[in-house]
Amino acid sequence: MKIQEVPSPIDLRNPKDAMEWANEANIKRPWRYDFFDMYVHKINNLNIENIQILDIGSGPGFLAKYLLQHCPDIRYTAADFSNAMHKLSKSKLLTRELNRATFRLIDFKQEGWFEDLGQFDVVIIHQALHELRHKAHAINFHQQVKKLCKNQTVYFVCDHIFAPDAMQNNQLYMSKKEHFQSLKNAGFKNIELIKDEKGLCLFECIESSERPIS
Ligand SMILES: C[S@@+](CC[C@H](N)C(=O)[O-])C[C@H]1O[C@@H](n2cnc3c(N)ncnc32)[C@H](O)[C@@H]1O
Repeated sequence: MKIQEVPSPIDLRNPKDAMEWANEANIKRPWRYDFFDMYVHKINNLNIENIQILDIGSGPGFLAKYLLQHCPDIRYTAADFSNAMHKLSKSKLLTRELNRATFRLIDFKQEGWFEDLGQFDVVIIHQALHELRHKAHAINFHQQVKKLCKNQTVYFVCDHIFAPDAMQNNQLYMSKKEHFQSLKNAGFKNIELIKDEKGLCLFECIESSERPIS
């Protein structure tokens, strides 16, 4: 059955729309930074040197800036289909932060988008999963993310949820239960809801190639 995607009201590849989104995002939801703090806390507690981070749907660079400022031992890769967003992101970074950052133009709705990106210790998708434009694509997307993971990579998924006091479109947004299910069905392990604030939920899970002991 053909999936009826939900069209986006804005074109985030258009510089004007990208700028508008960037100007409003933290005013509409200042609690985004509570989530950014959670990433910093989790990343700085990883026992890995030279941590490779991939941020999918990285946007105008708020998270890039925050991570590069607060996590001294990371290499950060921003993946987005919008050059306008990458431009905004680069403009926020100091030279020493840019030196630890890589920008990749990818469209995660295109086949094979994950090829040639590399493998990462941490993968984040923050407020961008719904850009798949239908929740039915989530499992396939998470399975593709697995190709970007090493054994024990930590995968963070944060998005608006479908709930009575949150988003109302259940084609675009998933309930908490649906998020758990899609990550589980894609094969991720140790799935936990680690932050739930004002309609945004952050899930953490682990890629594990280890097979369960039978
Ligand atoms: C709502 S913004 C979130 C930006 C950023 N993660 C943040 O929270 O500040 C969604 C981002 O996903 C990007 N995006 C949308 N569809 C995409 C696609 N098919 N492939 C790659 N990036 C996409 C947009 O350009 C935009 O930067």
